[in-house]
Amino acid sequence: MQRSADASVNLTGTIVRGPFLARDPREERADVHRNLLRRLPRIDSRYFYDDAGSELFERITRLPEYYQSRTEEVILAGIADEVVASTGARELVELGSGSGRKVRLLLDAMQRRGRLDRCVLLDINESFLTGSVEALAEAYPEAEVRGVVGDFLSDLGAVGEGRRRLLVLLAGTIGNLYPRQLATFLRRVRALLGPNDAFLVGLDLVKDPARLEAAYNDSAGVTAEFNRNALRVLNQRFGTGFEIEAFEHVAFYDRERAWIEMRLRARRPTSASLGDGREIRFAAGDEIRTEISRKFTRHSFAAALDGTGLELAAFATDPAELFASALVRPVRGGGAS
Ligand code: SAH
Ligand code: AVI
Repeated sequence: MQRSADASVNLTGTIVRGPFLARDPREERADVHRNLLRRLPRIDSRYFYDDAGSELFERITRLPEYYQSRTEEVILAGIADEVVASTGARELVELGSGSGRKVRLLLDAMQRRGRLDRCVLLDINESFLTGSVEALAEAYPEAEVRGVVGDFLSDLGAVGEGRRRLLVLLAGTIGNLYPRQLATFLRRVRALLGPNDAFLVGLDLVKDPARLEAAYNDSAGVTAEFNRNALRVLNQRFGTGFEIEAFEHVAFYDRERAWIEMRLRARRPTSASLGDGREIRFAAGDEIRTEISRKFTRHSFAAALDGTGLELAAFATDPAELFASALVRPVRGGGAS
C-alpha cells in the first residue's frame, strides 16, 4: 500500500514496539519456568495468542455457545453515540485489539460527531495488530492510526500522551487478569487517563454455570484447540517439548471465585523440558492452569475499582444481562489510594 506524503492522510498507520518485547529473553524464559514449577503449574494466557491462537479466538467468537462477542457488539452499537457524546472523546485507544472489528462501532460514532483525531491499538500479536492498524488507517483516513506491539500489563506507557481519550478493553479480557494483576492494571490505567478521559470495559457477567461452562466447552472443540495451542507456543518459543496430544482440555466454573478456569490435564504420564537439563514430569491426571476468565456483577466490578482512583460512571447490559459495558472515569479530585 502506498504511503501518503500528506501528514493529515494516513493510509498505512505506524507500528511501534513496547518494552515488553524488547526485554531480555532469559528473563521471560525464567518467568515461564517459574510458572511451570508452581504447585499447580500455570501458563500465562498471553501465550495463547500467536497467529494460530488469534485465528482460533476469532473462530471462538463465532461459535453458537460463545455469546460474549455478539452480545457485546449489540451493546456497543446501542451505546456508542451516547458514550462519545458524554465523554467528548477525540482519541480512541484499544488494548488487546485483536481483529479491531468491534472498535469500529465507537470510531463510527466519533466520526459522526466529526471528532476522530487519533486511534491507537495495542496488542501482543504483531501480525494481527498490523492488519488491524492498516485496515483502520484505510477506513478512517482523517485519523492518525498507530499500533503498539506490547503487553497491556507492562507497556501502557508506550501509548504516549493524549487528549480527550477513550481507552477501551473489550471482550471481557479484563477477566483474564488475576486479582493482583487487575489491581495493578487499574492503577496504571488511571495513570494513563487525564481528568476528562474515560475507560470503557467489556465484562462477562455472572450467570447460570451451565451456560458459562458450555461457552468454554464448545461442541466443535475449537476452545480445546485454542487451549492446547498454548503448549505449541511454548514449544516453539522455549523448546519445552510438550506432547500436545497427551493433554486434554478442561474448563469449569469456580462459583466461589466467580471465574471460569481453563486447564490442560495429562491423559497419561508425560514430561516437558526446561531446556537446562531439568524436566517437569506429569502423572496422568496432573493439570496446568492456562486461563482464568472472571465473571463480574455490577457490584463486584465497582468493588474492584475501589482504591484505584477510578469509579463506575455508567453500566449497560443486554436485556438478558449476559454481558456488560462499563464506563469508568477518574475519581473527581482524587488519585489512586
Ligand atoms: N478486542 C478483540 C480481541 C479480544 S481477544 C475483541 O473484542 O474481539 C484478546 C486480545 O488481547 C487478543 O488479541 C490478544 O492477542 C490480546 N492480548 C492477550 N493478552 C495480552 C497482553 N498481556 N497484552 C496485550 N495484548 C494481549
Ligand atoms: C479474550 N478472553 C476474554 C476470552 C475469554 O472468554 O476469557 C478468551 C477465551 N478463552 C476461552 N475462550 C475464549
